[in-house]
Amino acid sequence: MDDFTIRHAEPCDYQPIISVLNDWWDGRIMSDMLPKLFFVHFRETSFVAESGVNIVGFLIGFLSQTFPDQAYIHFAGVHPNYRRRGLACNLYGHFFRAAQKHGCRVVRCVTSPVNKVSIVFHLRMGFSIEPGERVIEGISFAENYDGYGGDRVLFSKLLSA
Ligand SMILES: CC(C)(COP(=O)(O)OP(=O)(O)OC[C@H]1O[C@@H](n2cnc3c(N)ncnc32)[C@H](O)[C@@H]1OP(=O)(O)O)[C@@H](O)C(=O)NCCC(=O)NCCS
Repeated sequence: MDDFTIRHAEPCDYQPIISVLNDWWDGRIMSDMLPKLFFVHFRETSFVAESGVNIVGFLIGFLSQTFPDQAYIHFAGVHPNYRRRGLACNLYGHFFRAAQKHGCRVVRCVTSPVNKVSIVFHLRMGFSIEPGERVIEGISFAENYDGYGGDRVLFSKLLSA
């Protein structure tokens, strides 16, 4: 059901999003990983979904400075009541098009191995899992990738030309 609109992120979106972030992640403390700078300096490649005046989803991404053909999705989340309606898929589509417009061919992102929904979602979006040094339940991941205890599944997706 398409009862939402998608626009670029703005600095004023930071407060409403950060105040619900941990709840959207089932109580996991995620807010430390999303400082306001992303809403200031990465607006061209970051998107917010609204239903009326309410923010119901967002995607924070950027273009790699080091690898001009690559773009990176740092964070994406959808309000629990708005899931399974294609909203995250729609947000990713906006990001893929923005990345392609800037000449990117590859999109990367990471997720925690405990986040099974995120893993299923990214595979459905056409991402592949990069080989890591450990495998649990058939999922390969990089141990301590983001510091001690910060295991991560590494995803990449080739954008069509
Ligand atoms: C992961 C998340 C962003 C998906 O958002 P969403 O809007 O519900 O996803 P979509 O509706 O676009 O799903 C697209 C496809 O992904 C798969 N998928 C999404 N959620 C799923 C779930 N809970 N179980 C199984 N498959 C799922 C399905 O194949 C789905 O297509 P379908 O509904 O036609 O079967 C959302 O669950 C969320 O915000 N989770 C908490 C935050 C998080 O983990 N973010 C991702 C890591 S940064």
